Amino acid sequence: MELFHTPEQALQWADANRDRTVGLVPTMGALHEGHLSLVRQAKRDCRLCCATIFVNPTQFAEGEDLGKYPRTLDADLAGLADAGCDAVFLPTAEQIYPPGFSTYVQPPQVASGWESSSRPTHFRGVATVVLKLFHLVPTSHAFFGQKDYQQLCVIRAMSRDLNLPVQVVGCPIIRESDGLAMSSRNRYLDSDQRLRARLLSLALAQADQAIENGVHDVQALQQLMTQTLSAGTVVDAGGATATVPGIPVGGVDSIDYAVLLDADTLQPIEHLQQPFVGLIAARFGSTRLLDNRVWQPVQ
Ligand code: PAF
Repeated sequence: MELFHTPEQALQWADANRDRTVGLVPTMGALHEGHLSLVRQAKRDCRLCCATIFVNPTQFAEGEDLGKYPRTLDADLAGLADAGCDAVFLPTAEQIYPPGFSTYVQPPQVASGWESSSRPTHFRGVATVVLKLFHLVPTSHAFFGQKDYQQLCVIRAMSRDLNLPVQVVGCPIIRESDGLAMSSRNRYLDSDQRLRARLLSLALAQADQAIENGVHDVQALQQLMTQTLSAGTVVDAGGATATVPGIPVGGVDSIDYAVLLDADTLQPIEHLQQPFVGLIAARFGSTRLLDNRVWQPVQ
């Protein structure tokens, strides 16, 4: 696996391989199975895979976890090599944002609301760095996890609106054995928070069950998700039942949103007659966790 520390090296590699399909996997490091599944998907779809590791300062607001964002470079490189990655680009902040840098991408409409309500400049930073990475390592494909669903919508819309010559591929969420969506931030959770973090996937599973059982009212389904998150639920724990306690309202942990939206525009819906997505965000202390599930239209 080749390592590139300068944009020139990365561009040279991409240029030398321009006749091959190449999959780009942008990451901020602290890699887990979710990231490695993107590399494996890239290797299935493309001849070569190049990952990037860059903790992008412009997508963190003042007071967010930029300083304490986990840095696990040795383990990341070992995991990437193991997953079959061919090259890794490791730029510095000065290379991406040299002195005088002042041009940002105005994110598309789909960036409005949801994550932007509590992180207003987040998608501006994501769109800007992703566009820069697409230019620095020009590839035929780019792979992103569906766990950050609004981010995936933003990158798809940006690529479409700006005619970027790269195919954006969304990849399935990879989950822990109890259903928690894998995230670099899960490591911040204490044991109580880790227990309650299961509620995100459980709330989506309950909505799924309710839809199967014929509940097609959007408000009722949203209420069911919120109710599961706040009241907790009973789960099967190896044959016995166990209670997962709810996320207390008004505590340090809180539910941010639990909504059903149009799967492409992320606008509210009244019926389930188009592809739709259940989006959930909750805070566990200073850690923000996201989960989602996409459904096809219900007739
Ligand atoms: O999802 C991430 O890890 C980041 O937001 C990304 C896409 C690598 C941009 O910094």
